Amino acid sequence: MAGKVPCMLGVLVSGGGTNLQAIIDCIEAGWLNARIGCVISNNADAYAIIRAQKSGIPVVIHENSGFSDRRKYDAATVEILRDHGAELVVLAGFMRILSDVMVDAFPGAIINIHPALLPAFPGLHAQQQALDYGVRYSGCTVHFVDCGTDTGPIIMQSVVPVEQDDSEASLSARIQIAEHKALPAAISLYAEGRLKIEGRHVRILA
Ligand code: GRF
Repeated sequence: MAGKVPCMLGVLVSGGGTNLQAIIDCIEAGWLNARIGCVISNNADAYAIIRAQKSGIPVVIHENSGFSDRRKYDAATVEILRDHGAELVVLAGFMRILSDVMVDAFPGAIINIHPALLPAFPGLHAQQQALDYGVRYSGCTVHFVDCGTDTGPIIMQSVVPVEQDDSEASLSARIQIAEHKALPAAISLYAEGRLKIEGRHVRILA
């Protein structure tokens, strides 16, 4: 990787931050040519904050309260991201839908990880939705973000089997193993300039 400027990431989180940890680990292992300029959390209690601090990554706690609407909150988020030089915004368990303010500020440069094989089971409790439906396979999807709920062009997906006795927790744990590979892999493709959005399709360049 010597010689190539690392891609600057802004990572948005709300919870435990295992996906954030996977990104940190891949960067520290020298596998992912990126840097995390800042981690932004809308939840002051998120364990993801501790993970970032342990790795010396700047953290901004940016709670929803105090903002009269989503667009104003997002405008403030854009400012934080720009201040930290973010080129690619990664939603790593960020539990908010983005408005056009964020999406327009980072066109084709926001990605999300979702714990189901989209377009099946968008939104909250995707793993429970999959269990309730009775599918034999679920998985995870990394996709570009638009203003819809988990509707943007798909970058990659990993398939995970659903076992007969799965609970939401056991299926989530199995899906997370796949997430921790897929998200850094998608970021790496982006950082290498190998993702091209063509309508609903994402072409992976050689
Ligand atoms: C993941 O399952 C991700 O797919 C979803 O939120 C969860 C975040 O987990 N969007 P973590 O905070 O990265 O552990």
